[in-house]
Amino acid sequence: MSALLSVQGLTAGYGGVPIIEDIDLDVAEHEIAVIIGPNGAGKSTLLKTVFALTSRISGSVKFIDRDITALKTAQLVPLGISAVPQSRNVFPTLSVDENLDVGTYAAPPGDKQAVRETVLELFPDLKDKLDQPAGELSGGQRQMVAMGRALMSEPKLLLLDEPTAGLSPAYLEIIFDLLLDIRKRGVTILMVEQNAKQALRIADTGHVLVSGKNFVSGTGEALLADDAVRRSFLGGAAT
Ligand SMILES: Nc1ncnc2c1ncn2[C@@H]1O[C@H](COP(=O)(O)OP(=O)(O)O)[C@@H](O)[C@H]1O
Ligand SMILES: [Mg+2]
Repeated sequence: MSALLSVQGLTAGYGGVPIIEDIDLDVAEHEIAVIIGPNGAGKSTLLKTVFALTSRISGSVKFIDRDITALKTAQLVPLGISAVPQSRNVFPTLSVDENLDVGTYAAPPGDKQAVRETVLELFPDLKDKLDQPAGELSGGQRQMVAMGRALMSEPKLLLLDEPTAGLSPAYLEIIFDLLLDIRKRGVTILMVEQNAKQALRIADTGHVLVSGKNFVSGTGEALLADDAVRRSFLGGAAT
Protein backbone atom coordinates (compact mmCIF):
# COMPACT_ATOMS: atom_id res chain seq x y z
CA MET A 1 0.00 0.00 0.00
CA SER A 2 1.35 3.39 -0.85
CA ALA A 3 1.84 5.81 2.00
CA LEU A 4 -0.44 8.77 2.69
CA LEU A 5 2.62 10.80 3.64
CA SER A 6 6.07 9.96 2.40
CA VAL A 7 9.13 11.86 3.59
CA GLN A 8 12.34 11.09 1.71
CA GLY A 9 15.86 12.22 2.48
CA LEU A 10 14.58 15.29 4.26
CA THR A 11 17.16 17.74 5.58
CA ALA A 12 15.86 20.97 7.06
CA GLY A 13 16.42 23.53 9.79
CA TYR A 14 16.45 27.23 10.42
CA GLY A 15 18.31 29.89 8.46
CA GLY A 16 20.14 27.29 6.39
CA VAL A 17 21.48 25.42 9.44
CA PRO A 18 20.35 21.78 9.30
CA ILE A 19 18.61 20.36 12.38
CA ILE A 20 17.09 17.21 10.91
CA GLU A 21 19.15 15.24 8.41
CA ASP A 22 18.25 12.74 5.72
CA ILE A 23 14.97 11.66 7.29
CA ASP A 24 12.96 8.90 5.61
CA LEU A 25 9.53 8.31 7.04
CA ASP A 26 6.26 6.89 5.66
CA VAL A 27 2.86 7.24 7.24
CA ALA A 28 0.17 4.83 6.01
CA GLU A 29 -3.44 5.90 5.67
CA HIS A 30 -5.50 5.54 8.88
CA GLU A 31 -2.55 4.90 11.15
CA ILE A 32 -1.32 6.61 14.27
CA ALA A 33 2.40 7.26 13.84
CA VAL A 34 4.40 8.54 16.79
CA ILE A 35 7.76 10.29 16.82
CA ILE A 36 9.65 9.98 20.08
CA GLY A 37 13.17 10.95 21.14
CA PRO A 38 15.13 13.16 23.52
CA ASN A 39 14.60 16.89 23.95
CA GLY A 40 16.16 18.83 21.13
CA ALA A 41 16.28 15.82 18.80
CA GLY A 42 14.42 17.75 16.12
CA LYS A 43 10.96 16.19 16.56
CA SER A 44 9.12 19.51 16.36
CA THR A 45 11.36 20.59 13.49
CA LEU A 46 10.37 17.47 11.54
CA LEU A 47 6.65 18.11 12.04
CA LYS A 48 7.09 21.79 11.21
CA THR A 49 8.99 20.87 8.05
CA VAL A 50 6.14 18.63 6.87
CA PHE A 51 3.86 21.65 7.46
CA ALA A 52 6.24 23.94 5.53
CA LEU A 53 7.23 26.03 8.54
CA THR A 54 11.02 25.64 8.40
CA SER A 55 13.62 26.06 5.69
CA ARG A 56 14.10 22.84 3.78
CA ILE A 57 17.58 22.13 2.49
CA SER A 58 17.05 18.88 0.57
CA GLY A 59 14.73 15.92 0.26
CA SER A 60 11.08 15.61 -0.61
CA VAL A 61 7.64 15.26 0.94
CA LYS A 62 4.79 13.49 -0.85
CA PHE A 63 1.16 13.51 0.24
CA ILE A 64 -1.29 11.16 -1.51
CA ASP A 65 1.26 10.67 -4.29
CA ARG A 66 1.55 14.39 -4.91
CA ASP A 67 4.88 16.17 -4.42
CA ILE A 68 4.14 18.86 -1.82
CA THR A 69 7.77 19.71 -1.08
CA ALA A 70 7.58 23.24 -2.47
CA LEU A 71 4.08 24.10 -1.24
CA LYS A 72 3.36 26.67 1.46
CA THR A 73 1.40 25.97 4.65
CA ALA A 74 -1.69 27.77 3.34
CA GLN A 75 -1.69 25.43 0.32
CA LEU A 76 -1.30 22.31 2.47
CA VAL A 77 -4.43 22.89 4.55
CA PRO A 78 -6.87 22.71 1.59
CA LEU A 79 -5.11 19.51 0.47
CA GLY A 80 -5.99 17.91 3.81
CA ILE A 81 -3.14 18.53 6.25
CA SER A 82 -3.81 20.22 9.57
CA ALA A 83 -1.51 20.84 12.52
CA VAL A 84 -1.60 21.61 16.22
CA PRO A 85 1.62 23.24 17.47
CA GLN A 86 3.35 22.33 20.71
CA SER A 87 2.26 25.35 22.73
CA ARG A 88 0.30 28.57 22.49
CA ASN A 89 -2.13 26.69 20.30
CA VAL A 90 -5.37 28.58 21.01
CA PHE A 91 -6.35 32.22 20.56
CA PRO A 92 -6.86 33.00 24.26
CA THR A 93 -9.11 36.05 23.87
CA LEU A 94 -11.37 34.43 21.28
CA SER A 95 -14.25 32.26 22.45
CA VAL A 96 -14.13 28.49 21.98
CA ASP A 97 -16.60 28.80 19.10
CA GLU A 98 -14.52 31.52 17.44
CA ASN A 99 -11.40 29.37 17.83
CA LEU A 100 -13.18 26.51 16.03
CA ASP A 101 -14.26 28.92 13.32
CA VAL A 102 -10.66 30.02 12.71
CA GLY A 103 -10.01 26.40 11.70
CA THR A 104 -12.26 26.86 8.66
CA TYR A 105 -10.52 29.96 7.24
CA ALA A 106 -7.75 28.26 5.28
CA ALA A 107 -9.99 25.49 3.96
CA PRO A 108 -13.73 26.17 4.28
CA PRO A 109 -15.58 22.84 4.70
CA GLY A 110 -18.60 22.10 2.50
CA ASP A 111 -21.00 22.10 5.44
CA LYS A 112 -19.47 24.06 8.31
CA GLN A 113 -22.34 23.38 10.75
CA ALA A 114 -22.14 19.64 10.18
CA VAL A 115 -18.38 19.61 10.72
CA ARG A 116 -18.79 21.71 13.89
CA GLU A 117 -21.37 19.20 15.18
CA THR A 118 -19.00 16.31 14.51
CA VAL A 119 -16.16 18.09 16.29
CA LEU A 120 -18.38 18.83 19.30
CA GLU A 121 -19.42 15.16 19.41
CA LEU A 122 -15.74 14.30 19.76
CA PHE A 123 -15.22 16.95 22.46
CA PRO A 124 -18.53 17.15 24.38
CA ASP A 125 -16.73 18.98 27.22
CA LEU A 126 -16.58 22.04 24.96
CA LYS A 127 -20.32 22.20 24.34
CA ASP A 128 -21.16 24.34 27.37
CA LYS A 129 -18.03 26.46 26.99
CA LEU A 130 -18.56 27.70 23.46
CA ASP A 131 -18.92 31.36 24.46
CA GLN A 132 -16.05 31.33 26.96
CA PRO A 133 -12.64 32.79 26.04
CA ALA A 134 -10.34 29.83 25.27
CA GLY A 135 -7.67 31.33 27.56
CA GLU A 136 -9.92 30.69 30.59
CA LEU A 137 -10.07 26.93 30.02
CA SER A 138 -7.91 24.26 31.67
CA GLY A 139 -4.86 22.99 29.80
CA GLY A 140 -6.66 19.80 28.77
CA GLN A 141 -9.67 21.71 27.49
CA ARG A 142 -7.43 24.12 25.58
CA GLN A 143 -5.80 21.12 23.91
CA MET A 144 -9.27 19.94 22.89
CA VAL A 145 -10.02 23.38 21.40
CA ALA A 146 -6.74 23.29 19.47
CA MET A 147 -7.44 19.78 18.16
CA GLY A 148 -11.03 20.72 17.38
CA ARG A 149 -9.88 23.75 15.44
CA ALA A 150 -7.46 21.61 13.43
CA LEU A 151 -10.27 19.16 12.62
CA MET A 152 -12.59 21.91 11.34
CA SER A 153 -10.86 21.83 7.94
CA GLU A 154 -11.68 18.10 7.67
CA PRO A 155 -8.04 17.01 7.37
CA LYS A 156 -6.91 13.62 6.12
CA LEU A 157 -3.68 14.01 8.08
CA LEU A 158 -3.44 15.59 11.51
CA LEU A 159 -0.03 16.66 12.82
CA LEU A 160 0.12 16.94 16.62
CA ASP A 161 3.10 18.21 18.59
CA GLU A 162 3.02 16.87 22.16
CA PRO A 163 -0.75 16.95 22.65
CA THR A 164 -0.41 15.81 26.27
CA ALA A 165 2.36 18.22 27.33
CA GLY A 166 1.70 19.58 30.81
CA LEU A 167 -1.52 17.62 31.27
CA SER A 168 -2.44 15.50 34.28
CA PRO A 169 -2.33 11.69 33.90
CA ALA A 170 -6.14 11.65 33.82
CA TYR A 171 -6.22 14.06 30.89
CA LEU A 172 -3.44 12.14 29.20
CA GLU A 173 -5.72 9.07 29.07
CA ILE A 174 -8.58 11.21 27.74
CA ILE A 175 -6.46 12.73 24.96
CA PHE A 176 -5.05 9.33 23.93
CA ASP A 177 -8.60 7.90 23.82
CA LEU A 178 -9.63 10.88 21.68
CA LEU A 179 -6.80 10.15 19.26
CA LEU A 180 -8.19 6.63 18.78
CA ASP A 181 -11.65 8.14 18.16
CA ILE A 182 -10.24 10.62 15.65
CA ARG A 183 -8.43 7.81 13.83
CA LYS A 184 -11.68 5.80 13.78
CA ARG A 185 -13.24 8.69 11.87
CA GLY A 186 -10.71 8.18 9.10
CA VAL A 187 -8.08 10.75 10.08
CA THR A 188 -4.44 9.70 9.94
CA ILE A 189 -2.29 11.00 12.81
CA LEU A 190 1.40 11.85 12.91
CA MET A 191 2.33 13.04 16.37
CA VAL A 192 5.28 13.87 18.58
CA GLU A 193 4.93 12.63 22.15
CA GLN A 194 7.06 12.81 25.29
CA ASN A 195 5.01 10.16 27.06
CA ALA A 196 6.71 7.64 24.84
CA LYS A 197 5.58 4.39 26.43
CA GLN A 198 1.89 5.29 26.52
CA ALA A 199 2.08 6.75 23.02
CA LEU A 200 3.70 3.63 21.56
CA ARG A 201 0.92 1.54 23.08
CA ILE A 202 -1.70 3.31 20.94
CA ALA A 203 0.61 3.78 17.94
CA ASP A 204 0.65 1.63 14.84
CA THR A 205 4.18 2.76 14.07
CA GLY A 206 6.87 4.62 15.97
CA HIS A 207 9.97 6.53 14.91
CA VAL A 208 12.80 7.31 17.30
CA LEU A 209 14.56 10.52 16.40
CA VAL A 210 18.01 11.17 17.86
CA SER A 211 20.20 14.18 17.05
CA GLY A 212 18.17 14.98 13.96
CA LYS A 213 18.39 11.46 12.53
CA ASN A 214 15.94 8.59 12.45
CA PHE A 215 17.51 6.09 14.85
CA VAL A 216 14.92 3.35 14.34
CA SER A 217 11.35 2.85 13.07
CA GLY A 218 8.98 -0.01 13.74
CA THR A 219 5.57 -0.98 14.96
CA GLY A 220 4.64 0.45 18.36
CA GLU A 221 4.76 -3.07 19.74
CA ALA A 222 8.21 -3.81 18.31
CA LEU A 223 9.70 -0.61 19.70
CA LEU A 224 8.22 -1.28 23.14
CA ALA A 225 9.90 -4.69 23.08
CA ASP A 226 13.24 -3.46 21.71
CA ASP A 227 15.96 -3.56 24.39
CA ALA A 228 17.98 -0.64 23.02
CA VAL A 229 14.91 1.54 22.62
CA ARG A 230 13.65 0.60 26.07
CA ARG A 231 16.97 1.28 27.76
CA SER A 232 17.62 4.61 26.07
CA PHE A 233 14.20 6.11 25.49
CA LEU A 234 11.58 4.38 27.62
CA GLY A 235 13.15 4.58 31.05
CA GLY A 236 14.63 1.06 30.99
CA ALA A 237 12.08 -1.14 32.75
CA ALA A 238 10.12 -3.70 30.78
CA THR A 239 6.48 -2.72 30.25
N1 LIG B 1 12.89 28.63 15.45
C1 LIG B 1 14.12 28.10 15.64
N2 LIG B 1 15.25 28.75 15.23
C2 LIG B 1 16.47 28.21 15.39
N3 LIG B 1 16.71 27.02 15.99
C3 LIG B 1 15.64 26.33 16.44
C4 LIG B 1 14.29 26.84 16.29
N4 LIG B 1 13.44 25.92 16.81
C5 LIG B 1 14.22 24.90 17.28
N5 LIG B 1 15.51 25.15 17.06
C6 LIG B 1 16.64 24.27 17.40
O1 LIG B 1 16.46 23.01 16.75
C7 LIG B 1 16.85 21.95 17.60
C8 LIG B 1 15.74 20.93 17.65
O2 LIG B 1 14.61 21.53 18.24
P1 LIG B 1 13.17 20.86 18.22
O3 LIG B 1 12.86 20.43 16.84
O4 LIG B 1 12.26 21.82 18.88
O5 LIG B 1 13.44 19.57 19.13
P2 LIG B 1 12.41 18.62 19.91
O6 LIG B 1 11.02 18.95 19.45
O7 LIG B 1 12.84 17.23 19.55
O8 LIG B 1 12.62 18.87 21.37
C9 LIG B 1 17.23 22.57 18.94
O9 LIG B 1 18.62 22.64 19.01
C10 LIG B 1 16.62 23.94 18.89
O10 LIG B 1 17.38 24.85 19.61
MG1 LIG C 1 9.38 19.67 20.41
